[in-house]
Amino acid sequence: DGIALPAESYVATPDGLTIPQVPNRPFTLEIETLVDPTANTQLSGLYRSSGTYCTQCEAEGFRRITYFPDRPDVMAVYTTRIEAEKTETPVLLSNGNLIESGDLAGGRHFAVWHDPHPKPSYLFALVGGNLAHIEDRFVTMSGRNVVLRIYVEPGKENRCDYAMDSLKRSMRWDEMAFGREYDLDIFMIVAVSDFNMGAMENKGLNVFNDKYVLASHDTATDADFAAIEAVIAHEYFHNWTGNRITCRDWFQLCLKEGLTVFRDQEFSSDMRSRPVKRISDVRGLRAAQFIEDSGPLAHPVRPETYKEINNFYTSTVYEKGAEVVRMVQTLIGREKFRAGMDLYFARHDGEAATVEQFIQCFADASGRDMTQFMRWYSQAGTPEVAVAGRYDAARNTYTLEAKQSMPPTPGQPVKAPMVIPLALGLVGKDGHDLPLVSQSDRIAHGVLVLNEVAVTVEFTGIAERPVLSINRGFSAPIKLNSDIDAGDLTFLAAHDSDAFNRWQALQTISMRLLIDNVAALRAEKPPRTDKKLIAALAATLDDAKLEPAFMALALVPPGEGDVAREIGRD
Ligand code: SER
Ligand code: ZN
Repeated sequence: DGIALPAESYVATPDGLTIPQVPNRPFTLEIETLVDPTANTQLSGLYRSSGTYCTQCEAEGFRRITYFPDRPDVMAVYTTRIEAEKTETPVLLSNGNLIESGDLAGGRHFAVWHDPHPKPSYLFALVGGNLAHIEDRFVTMSGRNVVLRIYVEPGKENRCDYAMDSLKRSMRWDEMAFGREYDLDIFMIVAVSDFNMGAMENKGLNVFNDKYVLASHDTATDADFAAIEAVIAHEYFHNWTGNRITCRDWFQLCLKEGLTVFRDQEFSSDMRSRPVKRISDVRGLRAAQFIEDSGPLAHPVRPETYKEINNFYTSTVYEKGAEVVRMVQTLIGREKFRAGMDLYFARHDGEAATVEQFIQCFADASGRDMTQFMRWYSQAGTPEVAVAGRYDAARNTYTLEAKQSMPPTPGQPVKAPMVIPLALGLVGKDGHDLPLVSQSDRIAHGVLVLNEVAVTVEFTGIAERPVLSINRGFSAPIKLNSDIDAGDLTFLAAHDSDAFNRWQALQTISMRLLIDNVAALRAEKPPRTDKKLIAALAATLDDAKLEPAFMALALVPPGEGDVAREIGRD
């Protein structure tokens, strides 16, 4: 309250500040801290990147700037006054809106930023430096004018156009897809060359690793542009999923990350090709997350203990976390999923929430009991699902049996059955799906819900022998075993209405060939060729209805890592 505390009335150490005697009423505590950003090589807290002062406070960097109750559920309104030498540091930025700035004596200047939205300390940001920027504008759906700026090192302004375009499209998409509007007068992105993560969603002032901002048409690849678009969108979408609604504690990290990855995946799917995006994401999931899930580092989407939260920025929390959100949508359908998201925003805006509160919104919006589904957050490991189908020509029925199992993971020797949504179709001779008629309450809108160890369902009125297409669109993050033969796979590769499974059929044929040939070469026998595979690839290339990007993916055989993973299963 404006009175200096004598040295004997507090203890300050590098880890904490203790004031044993405080007034028994609200009071103001002013703390003056001296930090040396240039000496900070951890890139956490306040540091310098090529001369630019910048911050990274997620997860626990704010405590490296000042003493603070540095937990995500401690939310506060921040006013930030920055002062610096004007020629060396002409640009001074922080969260929120600029409310005051001006020159001071001795060649110095200042800026005051105010962020009216209460936020956790991990979303605090401060930037100071000699930076150039490009500027644009966005009018939100309710008519609010927003200034958009991207700051970069001088000379790099001409490589920001794609990032700016991606930002504007992200802002519009979040309005259309989720009814979410931006909530400040300015949105800023700063690209720095030294950054631990891809980017950071600080309120109103995103800080980016510059590889996710800068692109020139002369040197950037298609993948570079796609990555910029996805990361710009991801950080922008955090404004609602992460910032307005944050996490009660770091155990809930997937609440913001899994959900926001899901949202950026949906955005990229709408901007580009949905099947191509899905195939790329599944390839990434199998290459990174499936490996994590089957090794010594396997952990649940929501970990139960940690020594260092920074070790949990993993593909399990992010990418498998996104798959879990996608399964919620598959189980309850798109409309109820949207209603559940609306409920989540309405119920928890301004709060630090938990995964239970999030999932409860979908239970309430759909009337579905989500208790068993919560195991996706607590049980580590990739479920394995075996399916077998039988056609009975005399009775015109198709019987499908699905069984699940889950290998033990560290600390979790025995697993309980999961809720596994398997999107499926029975494909007739002409390539069209046959109507799915079943008495089973486990079948709804083309999805079989496998929620016990084994489930058998019967489809009736099936007038011809169908080909089973299952786990369409990779509806569940599982390993699938089926006895489908090469002829049926070739048929699916050419005719399945589900583009993901067309790609998957080609991968499965290729994988079988590669596995056989690895075994043959080890036994010093000649490898075989597969005429069906060659024909299927040729048919794919000849199909004028397919997009070039899909064809390109279809022609890529499984990689060494994929083959190693498959061989390792046996
Ligand atoms: N919260 C950051 C992000 O995911 C850190 O990686 O965008
Ligand atoms: Zn994120």
